[in-house]
Amino acid sequence: MFHLPDRLPDLRDQVVVVTGASAGVGRAAARLFGRRGAKVALIAREPDGLEEARAEVEATGARAMAFPADVADARAVEAAADRIERELGPIAVWVNNAMVTLFCPVSELEPEEIRRVTEVTYLGTVHGTMAALSRMRTRDRGVIVQVGSALAYRGIPLQSAYCGAKHAVRGFTDSLRTELLHEGSGIELTHVHLPAINTPQFDWARTRRRKEPRPVAPVYDPAAAARAIVGAAESPAREYWVGGRTLLMIMANAVVPQLLDLMLARQAVEGQDRDSAVAPDRPDNLFEPVRGRHRTHGSFGDEAHPHAAILSAPAGRLGSVIAGGLVIAGLTGLVVGSALAAGGRADDRTHR
Ligand SMILES: NC(=O)c1ccc[n+]([C@@H]2O[C@H](COP(=O)([O-])OP(=O)(O)OC[C@H]3O[C@@H](n4cnc5c(N)ncnc54)[C@H](OP(=O)(O)O)[C@@H]3O)[C@@H](O)[C@H]2O)c1
Repeated sequence: MFHLPDRLPDLRDQVVVVTGASAGVGRAAARLFGRRGAKVALIAREPDGLEEARAEVEATGARAMAFPADVADARAVEAAADRIERELGPIAVWVNNAMVTLFCPVSELEPEEIRRVTEVTYLGTVHGTMAALSRMRTRDRGVIVQVGSALAYRGIPLQSAYCGAKHAVRGFTDSLRTELLHEGSGIELTHVHLPAINTPQFDWARTRRRKEPRPVAPVYDPAAAARAIVGAAESPAREYWVGGRTLLMIMANAVVPQLLDLMLARQAVEGQDRDSAVAPDRPDNLFEPVRGRHRTHGSFGDEAHPHAAILSAPAGRLGSVIAGGLVIAGLTGLVVGSALAAGGRADDRTHR
């Protein structure tokens, strides 16, 4: 049911661009591309974090260069792409990974916060895709990797702006794929949907909750995400779903979305809170980067799984059907159990 991608193109000496490469998933992926012998171009906002990440990639023996830019700024992304091709050579792989999110109910969101999440997480991906496409078209080859999420299929509470942006990336990517197919293009487009990963995201994302945010369990190590992203660049299938929970989430949403609504309403609000309170002066990275905090791992190393199953969506049809059956059975049990418990409480009140 699960399979790791076959290795196809050799990444050695190929130019690979990773946005959001100074921390978390992007930093882990940049390092792994370096180990594969690629020439790695790293894009993010904060120069010191980028420089540390660049040095880590070079420590693998690869060539790496930092290109500070805000992906929300289309001109800055274009200028970075120009410089990358001048300094490193033709771009073979472009990974759109940069993101910001915030933890806040819809009723408390400010319009400029929604705009900023959309401009970085959705439009940042669009800008990167367009910069890569215009250069790859002249050669009719190249791979664009979109880093997605289970939340590109299913919105959860407290992260509406991010979920909206990730859904938008999926719509944009699907449209582009049909155009590339229509043209008979040699450019490959692949979308890697990740589960929760132990990155600094949860330590520096803006929040209006009283408690520090946390990922929805189970959590995986950034190395697991990096393997999926590099594998997708080497063997660009339509989509990859990483981790069993991603498969379950996508299938449950397709088959029984109302049950998932109920489950998420019950579990995913407090489920995204840590025990620790948010400090009053806590910095966040929504509009500006947080200096001195750029690293690969977050605060959840104790619970992070080192490996995640990687399912290529086309190869996983049978798996999807089986998972769909399991999801229906599991969620039906949950809802029936909740209904019985609620009935029991009602009986208790009647007999009081
Ligand atoms: N962690 C998870 O649980 C999880 C789950 C599913 C999917 N994902 C996906 O994985 C990817 C990486 O997430 P992550 O958890 O690694 O995030 P992260 O730890 O918060 O790191 C975000 C990276 O993006 C950069 N960045 C932020 N805003 C930027 C901007 N405007 N322009 C350029 N770079 C910017 C950051 O550096 P600067 O601040 O210096 O710019 C940093 O390098 C995202 O696409 C996310 O949707 C993550």
